[in-house]
Amino acid sequence: MALLGGSMAFAGADDAVPAYLDERLPIEQRVEDALARMTREEKVALCHAQGKFSSAGVPRLGIPELWMSDGPHGVRAEVNWNDWGYANWANDYSTAFPALTALAATWNPQMAALYGRNIGEEARYREKDVLLGPGVNIYRTPLNGRNFEYMGEDPYLAGEMAVPYIQELQKNGVAACVKHFALNNQETWRGNVDVRVSDRALYEIYLPAFKKAVTEGKTWSIMGAYNQYDGQHACHNSRLLCDILRGEWGFDGAVISDWGGTHDTRQAALNGLDIEMGTYTNGLTSESEFTCDDYYLANPYLKMLESGELPDSSVNAKAANVLRLIFRTAMNSGAPRGSLDFAKHYAAAKRIADESIVLLKNDGLLPLRPDRYKRVLVVGENAVRNLTEGGGSSELKVKDMFTPLDALKEVYAEVLYAPGYKSGRPIYDGEELVAQDVLDSLRREAVAMAKDVDAVIFIGGLNKNGFQDTEGTDRREYSLPWGQDRIIEELCDANPNVVVANVTGNAYSMPWIGKVPAVMQSWYLGTMIGPAMADAISGKVNPSGKMPYSIPRRLEDCAAHSFGPEAYPGVESSGPRQEYREDILVGYRWHDTKSIPALFPFGHGLSYTKFEYGKPTASAKEMTDGAPLVVRIPITNAGGVEGSEVVQLYVSDLKSTLPRPLKELKGFSKISLKPGETGEVEFRILPEHLRYFDDAAHQWVAEPGKFMLLIGSSSTDIHAKVPFTYK
Ligand code: BGC
Repeated sequence: MALLGGSMAFAGADDAVPAYLDERLPIEQRVEDALARMTREEKVALCHAQGKFSSAGVPRLGIPELWMSDGPHGVRAEVNWNDWGYANWANDYSTAFPALTALAATWNPQMAALYGRNIGEEARYREKDVLLGPGVNIYRTPLNGRNFEYMGEDPYLAGEMAVPYIQELQKNGVAACVKHFALNNQETWRGNVDVRVSDRALYEIYLPAFKKAVTEGKTWSIMGAYNQYDGQHACHNSRLLCDILRGEWGFDGAVISDWGGTHDTRQAALNGLDIEMGTYTNGLTSESEFTCDDYYLANPYLKMLESGELPDSSVNAKAANVLRLIFRTAMNSGAPRGSLDFAKHYAAAKRIADESIVLLKNDGLLPLRPDRYKRVLVVGENAVRNLTEGGGSSELKVKDMFTPLDALKEVYAEVLYAPGYKSGRPIYDGEELVAQDVLDSLRREAVAMAKDVDAVIFIGGLNKNGFQDTEGTDRREYSLPWGQDRIIEELCDANPNVVVANVTGNAYSMPWIGKVPAVMQSWYLGTMIGPAMADAISGKVNPSGKMPYSIPRRLEDCAAHSFGPEAYPGVESSGPRQEYREDILVGYRWHDTKSIPALFPFGHGLSYTKFEYGKPTASAKEMTDGAPLVVRIPITNAGGVEGSEVVQLYVSDLKSTLPRPLKELKGFSKISLKPGETGEVEFRILPEHLRYFDDAAHQWVAEPGKFMLLIGSSSTDIHAKVPFTYK
């Protein structure tokens, strides 16, 4: 008899294997069997942490603990049992995969699958059961310090990318923990800001990626957010967790609180939270003397169960959800063993990074061919900085970090380097100020060197210090810090061949855009940042990334910043409160509908080759519920090098009862073509792609009438239109 996940010691006197240990049985039967054997105390013990990153199992029954780890971009180094200090192990380093913004910028679900598969192998190798990611919060404002951990401004794109990540990760027996559910779209006041948003915006913009993660990705866990929604904290919000997540979407996994996101025993007991983590911390730095037994879902909960103030049905439901999670992960004896195969994982990280870099502007300077440009000056701190350090919980301890400067030295005959500027040393609540005379002398040094080289590559941007791209704080300004705008301008005055290749996870203003011949958007690309950037700049790799968010010209052009402080960051009224006044018009939906052009639109990204869009054909002029509309369009690589194009399909509802955005992304496909080659991209349009959410009726509606399909290479660069009628 196969006894899986346990030993004979747990078998009954008659040697029969208890049902909960028999992995051949349906999981619900095993859950019920385990529950029937457990005491109330044992059930409560499943519902809260036992240390910083683990929760207890049921030792008496041989049911193991759950071990969790940050985060979305790699497996985090081990921290101490119950404080945030690192444990300083010698073997807890990992591959830093590109940040999720970069993954979204590939617009390639195959890259998301590759990501999930490889990060899952490392997580399993490190004996983690739950990986705290991916993050799918919507990019609402470029000031959000945590946008780099999310997948951009469009719910369709974020959802399509999250699903393969989750599926491939979980094939390793490691649960995804999709975060932060929901409406955690800023770091300012993240612990208690009370978000007010219409149902329409909630369902159309902020929930769809989570929904796909649950219904298609089948994520085994989800993390509640820090903020409040409608006056109740998201970690125990009855509407989000009971009505929507479990009621409407049928989620059968475990809801894990964000670290320190639980605030009340009764609400946590009744409103859908399963595992309480990190209470009495701010999730990053603060600690307290309390032990895990003092958590809301520990002794206080047990007491209220014993006194009958709370029903046992609440703890039975939670324990069942946690057992299901344990059976799927820690007790999944069929799962692969994992690996820390750096050659393989670095190669995967590099492929993803290669496809993510976005060529924003190119007057013909790029690619910077090494045979033509021999003496090159690299300027900027991010050319040498380890950007996997800092930024909060996504920070990683890497074994290797290949910097852009080192990689560029391998490509060009002579490479000089000048920092050009200096960011302040990180301190507790931000960074130390750098004296102006220091900044001035660094700038002058770089500009003087720029006069005497064939080309200049500026690699600046933001970093992971406080108030930059980091957890816990939002950015304070839209412009680049540390005087970078002035340096870029002066470099352009000194040398005609300046490439700006900044590393950020957010949009920033570009007052110098008219002066700079070539601009590339690079990301926190992790271990392989250097080789990926060097290959894109030199032309060894042809860039194929597209922007997962719009780059507004000015901050005021961004929807969330058009309605004053009530909309962002919120105002004080017995606690911070915020109203998403822009409603459904987030990102390009705002720019398009309000005719406020972005500097670089959502979906934008150039290539070293040229793509021509042919004439589209549609399977019908009318669409009914029974049959999808199939649209095909030929794409030709009309340039001289191989390249990939992301063909994007937007739907425009020409007349509707409720106002709608001018267009919405409902399909995309990345096609790789050799010079001269023509390929075909196919889209299948279903009624669900035509729907909007009618909040009065609380239902999705596809209204019969005229629609237009817009096919293009960005949200504004539309090459083909296909009209049709929905009956
Ligand atoms: C973050 C989560 C993270 C957790 C554990 C929190 O501060 O918001 O995203 O997974 O800490 O480190």
